[in-house]
This record gives sequence, structure tokens and C-alpha cells, in this order.
Amino acid sequence: MTVRILVIDDDAIACEFLQEALSRAGYEVDAFTSAKKALRENLSVYDLLMSDIRMPDIDGLQFLRQVHEKWPELPVILMTAYGSLETTMEALRLGAWDYISKPFSPDQIRAMVKKVMEVRELQQRRMRGQPEASGAPEFIGSSATMVDLYKQLARVADSSASVLIEGESGTGKELTARSLHQLSTRRDKPFVVVHCGAIPETLLESELFGYERGAFTGADRSHHGLIESAQEGTIFLDEISEMSSGLQAKLLRFMQDGEIRRLGGHEVRHAAVRVVAAANRDIDEEIKRDKFRADLLYRFVVRLHIPPLREHKEDLPLLVESLLKKLGYANVRMSDEAMELLMAYDWPGNVRELQNVLQQTMLLSPFLLILPDNLPERFRLKRDVPLPQLMPLEGAEREQILQSLKTTSWNQSRTAQLLGIDRKTLRSKIQRYGLLKDG
Ligand SMILES: Nc1ncnc2c1ncn2[C@@H]1O[C@H](COP(=O)(O)OP(=O)(O)OP(=O)(O)O)[C@@H](O)[C@H]1O
Ligand SMILES: [Mg+2]
Repeated sequence: MTVRILVIDDDAIACEFLQEALSRAGYEVDAFTSAKKALRENLSVYDLLMSDIRMPDIDGLQFLRQVHEKWPELPVILMTAYGSLETTMEALRLGAWDYISKPFSPDQIRAMVKKVMEVRELQQRRMRGQPEASGAPEFIGSSATMVDLYKQLARVADSSASVLIEGESGTGKELTARSLHQLSTRRDKPFVVVHCGAIPETLLESELFGYERGAFTGADRSHHGLIESAQEGTIFLDEISEMSSGLQAKLLRFMQDGEIRRLGGHEVRHAAVRVVAAANRDIDEEIKRDKFRADLLYRFVVRLHIPPLREHKEDLPLLVESLLKKLGYANVRMSDEAMELLMAYDWPGNVRELQNVLQQTMLLSPFLLILPDNLPERFRLKRDVPLPQLMPLEGAEREQILQSLKTTSWNQSRTAQLLGIDRKTLRSKIQRYGLLKDG
């Protein structure tokens, strides 16, 4: 199917340039030099709108608002000139998909269109597909490794089978446990999390199983345990190998027959609770080290292994995009150079570490485009000019100057001309932003 693009720019030469560049890539391109005229047409026949933001006959933001009202699904790429940064930010907040700074090369614009079309295709596929399972937490990743995990999850979710989840720190074990619960018919019943490693041994037993009055000093009334409070739901025992052997034996008895005896009590109670446990150490190793009981392991019907991020790095671009969105930075992009650095990294802290890196990056340098220099220290390449802290708008300006420098192969007088500033100003900005030819 041919992709139809509409270009709007009051400059006829710019329109021609885009028509030429994009039709070469196989797109069908129409152009308008008047935005007002374009608004009278039926734009739903287009797959993409590329528009200048500064137009003589209508305010760019006003135009964008109207387009969104009438054709909310139509992606818009803005073409922005130097000096229109504030308007650009506003436009992005209004829902424009992306922006590209003038001047740009045919290759740059083709790459951007291709990316936007890919994202749109993905969205449409998602919309055509099954509706998301009710309230299930979102896993991100489309690699074969992750798809494999989803299949296993789907198979075991809606049963009472006990599940042992193994995986390194930050791989998504808790996310998996929650998904298991949400995807089961127990979803309206409690999901109780117990961080076994964080609760002192003596307390853990009474927390889990409850106690009767007088069971120990200070037990002035009886209390039900967490297992009982998860009745008909799921109890998630995190870091299960931190449990003492004695407590593991007690848990084993519960898993065998569903019976509970509160501390200091004789009455046998029943709890229909699904047990899901997690360990971030290799359980087979823990058995060898006498840290985990082999007989308890056999009570787990299913073992799920969550792969570390370094084994499915092909999910990184999608993870970055989705996590940025989740963190509230939907319009932020990772530059190819920065993505390369992320790809080369080993990710010992897995998805949680990635989440932290993105959060930290956005807090320290809240720009629309993440460059290698914006990443935390451990990712950065060696460079000789230290980068100053920049304000958000300056970050975008820095990018715009850098793009223009690249377009002119670092010819400073041509760049200054393009940007409409004098060479002295350009030089001071190059210095201020620490721009380097290989950066
Ligand atoms: N595949 C994934 N897609 C989206 N988010 C993920 C994915 N994997 C992990 N996360 C997110 O990363 C964070 C860490 O996940 P989670 O707490 O489930 O890890 P964990 O394995 O329990 O880690 P730990 O062993 O340190 O407790 C969470 O915010 C979770 O939502
Ligand atoms: Mg966890």
C-alpha cells in the first residue's frame, strides 16, 4: 500500500524539495503552500502530515489544534526553523509526533518519515489486535526470548499451580508474579507481597502464619497471618531463599495440604491461596549450599526463568521508547549514537537499571533528543571538553545548532547564515554547548 504524505509549507521551493526527496523513497506526496486551504480538504486520505510551524496565513499551533480535532489519528511532523523553539515545544505538548529542524538533508527527512511510519504501523497493529488483558501489568519486549516468556505465562496463569520465578535482580520477577495474578480468575482477590529478606526471621513466621494470644511476649491478642489474608488470592513470597530452613519446612506443609496453624495455636485452618515465589539466586546452587530445601522445590509445579536484559538487547529500542513514555517523556527520542552506547552496555541491573538511567538522564538533561553526553557517566565516551549543565530550551537549541553544523560540514559562516545569527554568536554558542566535530 502506498503511503500518502501531505506537505504544508508557504515556501514553494521547500515543498518541491520535500516532494522530490520523499517521492524518491516511494511515497506519494502532495503539497500545499497554504495551511488554510489544506484545512478545507479531507486530510483523512493522508498517512502523514508534514508542516511548517511558522506560516503567514494561520498560527501554527492553531492549525495543529484544528488538525487534531478533525483527524486525531493523523501523525504530524513539524518542520521548525531556528528561533521557533518555544512554539515547537508547545506543539509537541499538543500532540505533534516529532519535529525536524531546518535545514535538513533528504536522507534525514526520509529516515524520520520511515521511523514515524513504523511507529504508526505498530500502533495500528496493536489496535487491530486483541484488547489488553484487564489490568494486567505491561510487559515490554517483542524478542523471541520475551515472546517465549509470554507464552509460558499464558499457559500457567489461570491455574492454582504454584510458581517459582527465577531471575536476576530487576528482570521483572515481581511484574511476572503480578501478571500471573491478574491473568487468573483470582484477579479480584488479594495479591499479597511478602519480602522475605526484609523481615527478621522470628517475625516472618508470625507474619506469615499468624499467632494466638499469648504465643509470645507482647501477643496480647490473636492475629491472622498474611497467608490467611490472601484467602482465594495469591501470596507472593519474594526472595524465598532468605527463609530459614525451619520456616521453609512449615511453608512446605502448607503447600502440601493448605493447612495453617497459627503460632501458639492448635486449631487447624485452611487457606486456598496460590503460592508464587521469587529468587534472584540460582535455586539449584542454593540447594547445594543448603540454603534451600530440595523438598520445597518439588512443591513448585512450575519454574519460570526470567532472562537478563543482556540476553534480549534487541528489545532495548522498544523498551527505551515505552519506558520514556511511561515516565512521562513521550516526545523524547534517543539518538542513534546514544542507543549504540546502551546496546554496548551489559545491564547488570536489567530493566530496573534502564528505568533508572532514563529517569536520571531526563532529570539532569531534560532535552527532546538524548545525546551520548546526556547519559550517565558510565556510558559516555571520553571527550576533552566538559559539558556545561543546560536548560531545556538550550538543549533543543544545542541540537539545532549541531544539526546545522553537520549539514554544512562544520562550515561556520554558512551555519551562521542558515541560523540567521552572526558568526561571533555562533562561535560563543559552540563553545558554551561544548560542540565538537565528532560529537
Ligand atoms: N519486560 C519488562 N517490561 C516492562 N517493564 C519491566 C520489564 N521488566 C521489568 N520491568 C520493570 O522494571 C522494574 C523492576 O522489575 P521487578 O521489580 O519486577 O524486578 P525484580 O526481578 O522483582 O527485581 P528484584 O530482584 O531486584 O526485586 C519494575 O518497575 C518493572 O515494572
Ligand atoms: Mg523484586
